Formats: sequence, C-alpha cells, structure tokens
Amino acid sequence: MKRILLFILPILIIVSLGFTVFGIFQVRYEEEKLLDDLKRKARAVAESMELSVRYSLISADLRNAKALAERFQLRERLQGCAIYGKEGEIIAITQRFEDWKEKDKPYIQEILENKTPRGELEKFKHYSVYSYILPVLDDEFNTLGLIEVIYDTSYVFTILAELWRRISITLIIIVVSIALIALLIQRQIFILPVKRLTEWFHHFQKGEIDTKHPIKEKGELGKLASEVEQVALSLRVARRTLSEEAHARLQKEELWTEAKLRDLIRAKLGENALYVVSNREPYMHVADEPSALPKCIRPASGVVTAIDPILRACGGTWIAHGSGNADKKFVNSKNKLGVPPDDNRYILKRVWLSKEEEDGYYYGFANEGLWPLCHNTHTRPIFRENDWQDYKKVNQKFADSVLEELPVKSPFVFIQDYHFTLLPKMIKEKRPDATVALFWHIPWPTAESFSICPYQEEILDGMLGCDLIGFHVQNHCNNFLDTANRLLESRVDTEKFSVVRFGKETFVRSFPISVDSNLDRAPGELDRQIEQLKKEFELEDKIVGVGVERIDYTKGIVERVLAIDRFLEKYPQYKKKFVFIQLAAPSRTHIKRYHDLIAEIDELVEQKNWKYREDSWKPIIYLRKHFSADEIAPFYRLGDFCIVSSLHDGMNLVAKEYVAAKADSSGALILSQFTGASRELTDAILINPYSIEEFSDSIKQAIEMPQEEKKRRMENMRKVVSENNVYRWAANIITELTALKKT
Ligand code: G6P
Repeated sequence: MKRILLFILPILIIVSLGFTVFGIFQVRYEEEKLLDDLKRKARAVAESMELSVRYSLISADLRNAKALAERFQLRERLQGCAIYGKEGEIIAITQRFEDWKEKDKPYIQEILENKTPRGELEKFKHYSVYSYILPVLDDEFNTLGLIEVIYDTSYVFTILAELWRRISITLIIIVVSIALIALLIQRQIFILPVKRLTEWFHHFQKGEIDTKHPIKEKGELGKLASEVEQVALSLRVARRTLSEEAHARLQKEELWTEAKLRDLIRAKLGENALYVVSNREPYMHVADEPSALPKCIRPASGVVTAIDPILRACGGTWIAHGSGNADKKFVNSKNKLGVPPDDNRYILKRVWLSKEEEDGYYYGFANEGLWPLCHNTHTRPIFRENDWQDYKKVNQKFADSVLEELPVKSPFVFIQDYHFTLLPKMIKEKRPDATVALFWHIPWPTAESFSICPYQEEILDGMLGCDLIGFHVQNHCNNFLDTANRLLESRVDTEKFSVVRFGKETFVRSFPISVDSNLDRAPGELDRQIEQLKKEFELEDKIVGVGVERIDYTKGIVERVLAIDRFLEKYPQYKKKFVFIQLAAPSRTHIKRYHDLIAEIDELVEQKNWKYREDSWKPIIYLRKHFSADEIAPFYRLGDFCIVSSLHDGMNLVAKEYVAAKADSSGALILSQFTGASRELTDAILINPYSIEEFSDSIKQAIEMPQEEKKRRMENMRKVVSENNVYRWAANIITELTALKKT
C-alpha cells in the first residue's frame, strides 16, 4: 500500500496543483467578464435617464424626478437609482433603497466639481453593489445634478462560487479516476504477476512438481522465475545424490553419531522434510527490562536437550510457542528464524499465544491438570473447563500453523509431549498422507489414575491420530495400552503392540531418550571455569556434590535437602569437608504450587545452612537462577557425585548428562529408582527418595566408594549413554516409523 501511495501521490499532487491554477484563472476571467457587463449596463441606464433628469432638474420638477427614480426599480438586478441636486443633496431615490441616503459619500463633491462620471464597487450594510454616477450638465456645461445607478453584484459572487464548486467536483473526479487507473495498472502489470510468482514459489517450497504448476510469467519476471526453476532442479538432483550416498554409508558405520543420523534421515525420509512441534522453544529471546539488550537463552527442558541436537544434525522446522518477551523482535514476516542464532542449522517457527491462552492451555490444563495426573507425587490435578477450552483452541492454533508449513509429499511430523494430545488427530484429518508421531516425555499413569481426567476420551482419541506413540519405558507403553483398552472404544493388538480405533492403527513403542554423549567443549576454557568456581565457592579440598534441576515438585529437591541434613547429623565428620551445590532454575512460577515450592526450598536451605554453618562454610550452595548448558558443564565436572532424586520422572536427562560430562570416568551418580533413567543406568547408586535414611546413607556411599569401583561403574554408565545416545534414539524412531509405514 505504501509503495502504491508513493507511486500515485506525486501524480495526484501535480494534477491537483495544475487544476487549481487553471481554476483560479478561469474564475478571474469569469469575474472580469461579469463585472464588465454590469458596468456597461449601469452606464447605459444612467445615460438613458440623463435627458429626462436634466429636464426635471431645470424645471425643478421634483415629482417627475421621484417618478423617474421609481421607474427603474423593477429592472433586473438594478438595486435602485438616486438623483442628486447641484449641491450634492439627494432629490429623489428609489424607495426600497432609501438606506443608501445614510451612506457617507465623500466623492460626490469631487464629481460635481470635475464633472466626470465615476463607477465603483461598493459595500454598504448588507449590500454589495456597483454604483455608477453620471453628472447632468446644462448647455453651458454647468452641473445641474447627478444620476446614480446602483446594481446588485452579489449574483456575480454566487456565479463564481458555483464555478468553484464545479471545478472542485471535476478535480475530485479526476483525482479518483487517476488513482483507480493507477491501481488497476499497478495490479495488472506488477501485483498480479508477482502474486502468481509467489504462488509458484510457495508450491515449489512445498515440493510440488513444476509441471503441475508451471510458471506462466513472461518478460523480466518470467526470466527470474526460470532462473529459480533451474536452482530448484539442481537442488533436487543434489538431494537425491546425497540420499543415495547416505544409504551406502549407513551399511558401514557402527556407533551413532550426528553424521550417521543425518545419513539415516536422508536415506529414510529422502526429500520428505521433518517437522517437530513442542510447546517449549529451543531458543528463547529475553530481555530483563524493556530497554535492556535481549539475549538468547536455551530453556531448561529435557525436550530441548534431546531434540535440538537432532535438528542441528538433520535440519528441518521446529514449531513452538514463542514465549520469550523479546521473541517477536527476532522473527521474519512468517514468524521464523534460523537457529542456533550464530550457526543456523534449522528453522524455528514461533507461534504466538495470548496471555489468556497461555494461562489456560499451558499453566492451567497442561501443568496443573495433565502434569500432576501423570506423575505419582500426590499433587492433586486440577481440571477446569475454561482451561480445557483454551487447550483445545491452542492445539487447533498449532495444527493450523503446522498445516501451513507441510509440503505436498508425505511429510513427517514429530510432536512432543502432553501439551499436544489433540494435535495428531487435527493434523491427520487434514493430511492423512502425513506420518505423525508423538513422543510422551513424562510417565503415563495407570488406567485407574488416568480415568479421573474428565476429558479422557477426547485426549485418547486425539493421540490415536498418530501412527506411532513413543514412551521412555515399556511400563508406560503397557499403561497406555491398558488405558486405551479400558477407557476408549478401541481394539488393542497385544501382538503388534498397537491400538486400532475406527480402522486406524497406532503403534506404541518404548524409546529411552538420551543426550548427545559427545559434549566436546574446549578443555582449556572448561579448566579455567572450574578453577574460577573453586575460588568463588571455596571448594578447594572439599567433596563436592551437585544437583541440576528446574524447581519442580516432581524432582525431590526438598527430600534431597532433608537427606543432606540427615547425612551431616549421622556423619558429622563430613562437616566443613563437604559441599552440595544445587543449581535450580525457576519454572512455571505463575502456578501456586510452584511459587510455594520456591519459598519452601529457600526457607529449608536457609534453615539447614544456619544449623551447620561454621566460619565461612555452609553445607548447601543454592543457586536459584537459569543456567546455560555451558555454565552447567563445569559444575558436572567438579561434582564428585551428582544427585537425581526425582519422586517420579519419565527419563531424567540430568543423570545422563552428568555421566556424559565425566570424560575421566570419575564421579558417582545417586539416582532415584522412580526415574526412567534408573532402568538403564543400573551402575548408579539407586535410591528411594522418600526414604530419607536410605538417601542419606547413599551420600556416604557415593563419597566413600573405592576409586576403582567408582571408575568401573562410571565407565559402564558411559558406555550405556554413548551407545544409546540421542542420535540412536531419533534413529530408532525414524526407522520404526518408516518400517511401520510399509506394513
Ligand atoms: C518436562 C516436559 C517438557 C518441558 C520441560 C520443561 O521435561 O516433559 O515438555 O518442556 O519439562 O518445562 P517447561 O514447562 O518449562 O517447558
């Protein structure tokens, strides 16, 4: 629109100026013509009266003079006429124009003396007139008196005003016509071809073949389009070659790496692009204050830790809620940006939610309803009808956003977690050709627990829009099949491990999620960070324990502090020799339960530190803030042991990250038996976090474990993590999906 205005505006200004100048001349000309006409008429009338007036003045016939003055009053536009005596006194005047007598007329004496006529435009009271005064002379050229003829001139101005009105209307018509014609021309020669070209690009983006949507443009735009067509062709050829090479390489390699996953995805998905959907975005732009410079952070989230390396390796599009307060500043017109910001490997598309939507869908239904429903932590789930309505609305919003992106040819949509139970069905209904998988990152409860959810049927029905649903452990798969069997009209196939509903089959499989085991950080930089931390927190010669969590009631942070307290009570010899560092990222703080938990932990830590404090030593260093992966790395390296004491956890990636970070195979892991990770990391010191006695003893065990045993256990765990790393996890899901599609 702005561009069109820039194009039309100068034309309109020139036309308007030209027309106004023309109008001024036209009006002036008309005014002169009309006044000229009037003057001539006035002179003619005065001259025609001259003889009769002369006679009346000579004979001093006043009656005749009055009759003469009255005789003219009916003439067109003639306002009136006055007859003056030789001294300049009024002898007779048209009756209806008597006011004229009151007018001050200094020029009368001058005319009497000079004996020359005078014609002038005059204003008096409400009159706007032309007055013509003719001296009446006798034969000896002596002045007998004067005749004044007065014409109304207001009609001249009425005519001129009408003329202006007509000129203005014509101008408006011309301006509007020019604007319309310009718009039409612009549309025909510019907008429509560009629109057609954009449509063609859109089809090309979606992978539709060019023969179905050929480029029709001619001229310069046509040339541009055919250039793009050539680039498209070369890209397609290059992609095909790459996927064939990938097939060949896959036959050879063993351990799962970023490159191997890339090859697998190219080989299995070929040209079909990968679309990931999650609530939490992998890169978030936040500014602490509106005026501050925004920074890009990676949120503390298991989903982000796991999925980001996959998309970095394979490219694709990740669609997520843009929840950072500065997010809008960093997206293009399609709400997209390349990430990581300094090394664009894939596309992040941000979906915007209103505060109300976020409250209802995220805080309310997902985190006060489904989250406690799926975790056995005795926190009561809250289901509100309004939250459910928002949850449905937001799932639909994400569905629309995903559908907008999908290419024509069988795309892969990989949905994450409990925020999007309705999304699979919404996508499948519109795009039955898409392969849709959902990974559930948290535990799935028993059918009995799940049955308290008032929206159980819609949730299960929505999830069964998937081709594949993944859980971390077999137990959660079993719970899900049991739930579908008991609570929904469906058939469970225990042979194939699938659920069939209305003829549509959904496979259910376990895929234990993991981390990127090759955390290659510059060793020099890491050592420097470690030295700095040792100095800052006086850790030299101390036994250091670490914990890294979002502040969540499922993580067992309170139990951990109680266990440390009990440990120091029972084994006071460790006072001043031991320090536990807890990194705690505030999370979901608008929910009361989380808000209260922050206060509860603050108070508890303070209380225990006070209890044991000696000189500058205190047992717990509690750092409550967001930490980036780079900031966490030195703490893992420093930690002689790490505590993961979740009361219930789908997998828990902190446990695996700690193991992956221990390149020298030092350190011990205290791990809750209620995490998915405890199934794989059997060399950890497994605990029941509810048993504070057992928990406190596990700390002693971790500290006092002989070096060899520690090393052996850590090596075993490192083997598990590096063999079952996140690339294998993604590869297993893709392989399973493509295999299922063929059956
Ligand atoms: C768990 C959930 C994730 C979530 C993460 C962080 O790991 O499974 O989906 O992203 O917690 O929680 P948040 O609510 O901050 O995204």
